[in-house]
Amino acid sequence: MLNIALPKGRLGEQTYEKFAQAGFDCPQILEKSRKLTFENQEKGLRFFWVKPSDVSIYVERGAADIGVCGKDILLEYEPDVYELLDLRLGICRMCEAGLADFYEDGSRALRVATKFPRISAAYYESIGREIDIIKLNGSIEIAPLLGLSDVIVDIVETGKTLRENKLCVRKEIVPISARLIANKVSFAFLHDEIIRLRDGLSEPGGKDTHD
Ligand code: PRP
Repeated sequence: MLNIALPKGRLGEQTYEKFAQAGFDCPQILEKSRKLTFENQEKGLRFFWVKPSDVSIYVERGAADIGVCGKDILLEYEPDVYELLDLRLGICRMCEAGLADFYEDGSRALRVATKFPRISAAYYESIGREIDIIKLNGSIEIAPLLGLSDVIVDIVETGKTLRENKLCVRKEIVPISARLIANKVSFAFLHDEIIRLRDGLSEPGGKDTHD
């Protein structure tokens, strides 16, 4: 059995479609239910839905052989897994955003609210900007509105959340998309199967991200 962790939600559904098109399908998964695990015995596949930010934990610890998660999670948590393929789904950007009229005073630390402290710290260090990180778990966009922070570092996909909260992008930090990842031991033991899956998911001209 190849155990596959997929992120619950729209990205997971798009990902499953790609798996199915490549012949790695499990029709039961499309039935409306609250079940979280699905097997295709014939093809030796077991899929399970997990919270998107937990996929890399299942894969790193070997509860899943492979999984799909955002590059944001890989950069933030640096799980010890192989990154095999850029699936070109869930395309978005990690950005610094703030109120349109925010004036940056370079003489003091920039207060940055974010769910991604490691990505933020690395970015501001790379440009030599002193910051004060305010780690939040959600609704980041309200932090500058309430004066909790000067700016936010967060994911921007359509830009709708920023617009509706009167914020705008100030800097683009890194492009993000969904990646196929593998547990390191599974990659050795189930090598041919995992490579077959990765090749099936690769689009012509798609980027193989495994060195
Ligand atoms: C992300 C991000 C923004 C929103 C951006 O949140 O934190 O709030 O998406 O998308 P947009 O540019 O299309 O408006 P997500 O939906 O992943 O939820 P979360 O905050 O619970 O992680």
